[in-house]
Formats: sequence, structure tokens, C-alpha cells
Amino acid sequence: MEISSGLEDVYIKHTALTSIDGEKGVLRYRGYNIEDLVEHSTFEEVAYLMLYGELPSNERLATFRASLEKGYVLPDYVKKIISDIPRSAEALTIYMTAFAAMSAAENDFKWSPQTDKQKSAEIIGHAASVVANANRHISGKSVVDLKPSGSYARSFLEGALDRKADAKEVRVMDRALILYLDHEVPASTTAALVACSTLSDMYSSVAAAVAALKGPLHGGAAESAYLQFDRIGSPGNVEKWFNENIIVKKQKLMGFGHRVYKTYDPRMKIFRKMDDEIVKSPEDRNMLQTARKLEEAGVRQFGPKYVFPNTDFYSGIAFKAIGFPVNMFTALFALSRTTGWLAHISEYNESEPRIMRPRALYTGPGPRELAAVSNK
Ligand code: SDX
Repeated sequence: MEISSGLEDVYIKHTALTSIDGEKGVLRYRGYNIEDLVEHSTFEEVAYLMLYGELPSNERLATFRASLEKGYVLPDYVKKIISDIPRSAEALTIYMTAFAAMSAAENDFKWSPQTDKQKSAEIIGHAASVVANANRHISGKSVVDLKPSGSYARSFLEGALDRKADAKEVRVMDRALILYLDHEVPASTTAALVACSTLSDMYSSVAAAVAALKGPLHGGAAESAYLQFDRIGSPGNVEKWFNENIIVKKQKLMGFGHRVYKTYDPRMKIFRKMDDEIVKSPEDRNMLQTARKLEEAGVRQFGPKYVFPNTDFYSGIAFKAIGFPVNMFTALFALSRTTGWLAHISEYNESEPRIMRPRALYTGPGPRELAAVSNK
């Protein structure tokens, strides 16, 4: 009986959503290359594709967008909960709390292929409003509903940043939302599936996913990768920092390595290119150059062990350039991945709804009598 450490190479479901070729570094959603979707589609079109299986006609896209926009309005009690959370709270904590609270509206929840997707669209809208308000709340602003603008990325940005967003910022956010949208069954999606396999509701299953995403080995790496660049300070300091921290102290290089990719993560390459296009300030440009140098040192050291930069290595530089603080990066990852979690939840419950119940191999003491213990 073999234990699979970290569930490595354990298959828990069939999926028609996302395919990953870890050797070649290829990622496809419903058969389309991620590079093509980022170049030619919007987040709304790709979200529709993941939920329904095909890219939408203009008419279906309009209906889908209307459902997303319904979710921009949060229930009053959720707005109050967000307002009452301490401003020092992590953005993901606000996300988890809001989603756990919204499950209150799901007391008579029942799975149904007819309504899951409609409900998912509204939840994806709620996610934009919750994450936008997490950014507003931690930066001292009031909680509001998002305003429809014809673009999910634009409505999210303008609500979160409390200002008009320019076309370039909207395009970067839209592409980031596509890049992080799904990735088969990483720890967070698996957590969502375990929850929904017990017939728990969608909101609670998303809250379970967020709890798993938070850690620095998973979504938390988006923030910890950026903090490395900040600590290093400039390209000229990279070699010294790398030797002291990664070689001598054997710290993990955050934003590097992947359970599935044994080459460059294709998403990383797209983020790296986007960073070049969007970075404006000398400070952000210096961060990007530091990251480039750190990538070179990391690939030189770990490339021979098939450890390469992943999607979290460069994403933070783009998020910072469009105005988000570091402690929002993982919440932005969660915002995008909400669609992937919901698509996997629906797919699982519509095709193989069995409760997930693995086993543990017992290594404790053999059977023993509970004799009257004299020296109690
Ligand atoms: C995401 O799974 C997904 O799809 C996740 C994700 C998604 O879209 O949902 O892609 C998003 O979470 C990306 C990963 C973000 N995390 C980080 O960047 C944190 C740093 N990375 C590592 O902790 C690690 O690479 C993991 C967690 C990503 C993967 O862990 P594994 O598969 O358990 O690999 P491992 O720890 O067993 O490492 C294998 C070898 C070891 O060397 P040996 O002991 O065999 O000599 O590779 C080395 C490790 O030391 N290694 C690293 C390293 N990652 C692996 N060495 C230094 N720095 C690293 N980052």
C-alpha cells in the first residue's frame, strides 16, 4: 500500500475543462491555447467558455454579462460584514468571510445542471465586488456596489481603485483574469471539490478553496515572490542575496517550481511580457529588472532540476503597476480562479458526484486492553 506524498500523480476526477502538458509547458482551456485566448478573447468570453463548453455568441455573451452584473450588488449584510472587519485583515480573509456569509442565502441549496451556471455567473459577479471592496476597505474607503461598464475587468478596477481605469490597465487586468482562471486540480480546487462532494453549497465550497489558496506554497506565492524583489532592492544585489538566502540558507525561491510543469509555466512568459508593456514608474521598472536578474540566477541554479519560474513570479509586478498593494495580489488570483473553481464544482456534481473519502495507512500501536491503570 503506497502513500502518494502530496497526492502526487493521484487523479481525482475526469475533466473537459483544462489540460496541462507539464513537459512541453502547454496550457489549454477547453482545447484552446492560453496564448490565443489571452490575445483574442475577453475574460467574460473565457469564463463563459469554461462554464458552457463553447465561446459565446454576442447574444449569449450579453445575457451572461447581465448575470455577472447582477452579482456586482452585494447583500446589505455582506457589505456590513466587510465594513466591520478590521482594516488590518488580509484581503483573502475578507474574501473567505464574505463567501462563508453568503452561504446563509443557500439554506435550501440543491444541485441542478439547469441552474448551476446561472448561479455561477452571479457568484463571479459577487467575487468582483467582494475583492474590489477588500481593496477599498484595507485602504480606508467605504464599501460600494460595482458599476456596470461593459467590461468585468473595467468595473472591477474602477470599483477597487476608486478612479477611472485607462484602456491599457483594463487590458492587463482582463488578461490576468484569463491567465489565472483555471489550472486543473491544484490544492485550492481540490479543497473546493472535497467540500462540494458532500453536497455542500457553492459559496461554502469557494470559501474552502480560498482557505487552501492562501498558503505561500500556492496562491500566497504571488505576494512572497514580489517581496523577494523588494528585499533585494536592485538588480546589482541579486547575486549576493541569492547566495546568502537560496544557496547558503537553502530557502525556497518563491515563484519558482511546480508540481506539474517541468519547464517554463506558459503563463509566466505572458505575465513577463505584459510587465514590460505596463510598467511606467522608475520604481516598478527597477523591480522588473531585479526580477529578470533573479530569474536568471534561479534558472541557472534550478533549471537542471526542472525547477523553473511559475505564473506567480511576474504577476505581482503587473498588479503593482496598475495600482494594487502587495497584500492584494493573492486576492486577485482568487478573483480570477473563482470561475475555475465553480466550473470544476459544476462539472464534478453533474458527472461523478461521489463524496471524496481517501484512506490513511495506520502505523499506531496494536490492539491493547484498557486494564485499570495502576499509576493514574
Ligand atoms: C501555484 O498546482 C498548480 O497548478 C498551482 C498553480 C495554479 O495555477 O493553481 O500553478 C499556482 O501555486 C504555483 C506555485 C506557487 N508556489 C511557489 O512558487 C512556492 C515555491 N515553490 C515550491 O514550494 C514548490 O515548487 C511547489 C510547492 C510549487 C511544488 O512542490 P513539489 O511539487 O512538492 O516539489 P518539491 O517541494 O518536492 O521539490 C522538488 C525538488 C526539491 O529538490 P530535492 O529535495 O529533490 O533535491 O525541487 C526543489 C526541491 O528542493 N524545489 C525548489 C523549489 N521548488 C522545488 N528549490 C528551491 N526553490 C523552489 N521554489
